[in-house]
Amino acid sequence: MSLFNVYPLFDVTPVKGKDVFVYDTNNTKYLDLYGGHAVISIGHAHPTYTKAITDQVNTLGFYSNSIQNPLQVELAKQITSISNCEDYHLFLCNSGAEANENALKLASFHTNKKKVIAFKNSFHGRTSAAVAATDNPKIVAPINAQQEVIFLEFEDLVGVEKALQNNDVCAVIIETIQGVGGLDEASTNFYQGLERLCNEYNTLLIADEIQSGFGRTGDFFAFQKHGITPDIISMAKGMGNGFPIGGILIHPKIKASFGLLGTTFGGNHLACAASLAVIKVLQEEDLMKNVKEISTYFTQKLKEIPEVITIKGRGLMLGIEFSQPIASLRKSMLFDQHIFTGSAKNPNLLRLLPSLTLKKEHVDTFISALKEVLSMNQKIATAN
Ligand SMILES: Cc1ncc(COP(=O)(O)O)c(C=O)c1O
Repeated sequence: MSLFNVYPLFDVTPVKGKDVFVYDTNNTKYLDLYGGHAVISIGHAHPTYTKAITDQVNTLGFYSNSIQNPLQVELAKQITSISNCEDYHLFLCNSGAEANENALKLASFHTNKKKVIAFKNSFHGRTSAAVAATDNPKIVAPINAQQEVIFLEFEDLVGVEKALQNNDVCAVIIETIQGVGGLDEASTNFYQGLERLCNEYNTLLIADEIQSGFGRTGDFFAFQKHGITPDIISMAKGMGNGFPIGGILIHPKIKASFGLLGTTFGGNHLACAASLAVIKVLQEEDLMKNVKEISTYFTQKLKEIPEVITIKGRGLMLGIEFSQPIASLRKSMLFDQHIFTGSAKNPNLLRLLPSLTLKKEHVDTFISALKEVLSMNQKIATAN
């Protein structure tokens, strides 16, 4: 049996990881500035993390959501403490799409409405309502297209209010910083305007922090820079450092009832142990402070490169924009320089989502590799 062929693959096979590095079958070492798509938050194979998971699987790996699970309660406590998001309630699931699916469903239950407002270039996942709120018709199947979603531009508060006036919108869902869309972030005025309008029209504001959350921007959640209080916050990726876990933080005005949401695997013992270890390391190693410092250093160094047109994003969620497509540059970085990077919807944008443990020496390695590839490309262009 062969694999269902949905992923265009690079011809490289990582078999081992350590902090910001991965190693392939030939033991070639790669600097990982992609973090397995923003997932690796505390570094590959962090000893605190591997010990926590090993100990847990040796004790109790799984039981269903029909029993007391003190690890879930502890995780809720730890997320409150590290995020300063007091008063929310936690619902745990297994992935980003599932987090957004539950967020949208809950908004619809709570408001008894069914339309959604999302934004141009958004990505919220591949399940039913989440994919319908994703601005990419290619991945929306007819079965998903029955959801009613209004796509608006960032900053278009007039459009948002107009759409809300029909009183049929259950949720406004927004990535505080867009991931695959290309690292765009709206103004504080816009986020605050959304909050005000959502309150006014009894619509829930969902902050999709699946990529930008769990410390990636140097704040625990990226929306915190804008001083808003979303009704639901969705999380995944860095939350488990590779162990599948997602969740939503739910404002207390939204009431729970038995059976309203549910999942078999969500919040299982192993997943909770993984996420608790992530939070422990974020705190013990002061990684959010590290993110801010390294990000400042990184952007300073990038500004010295003339081919770089714009630097987008925040913290260790960075986009480097060039005047031409980066596909071949990305390949050279991987196969010649042994550095993993990411791409975005914007073909000229190189996306970096490294572990939050990144240090200056890794930034220096990347910068000199990038300069080498750019100068090689320049020589080839001149020769032609
Ligand atoms: C902002 C955002 N939301 C949702 C998702 C979906 O997450 P998952 O792939 O875990 O379903 C992603 C994944 O890339 C994402 O970046």
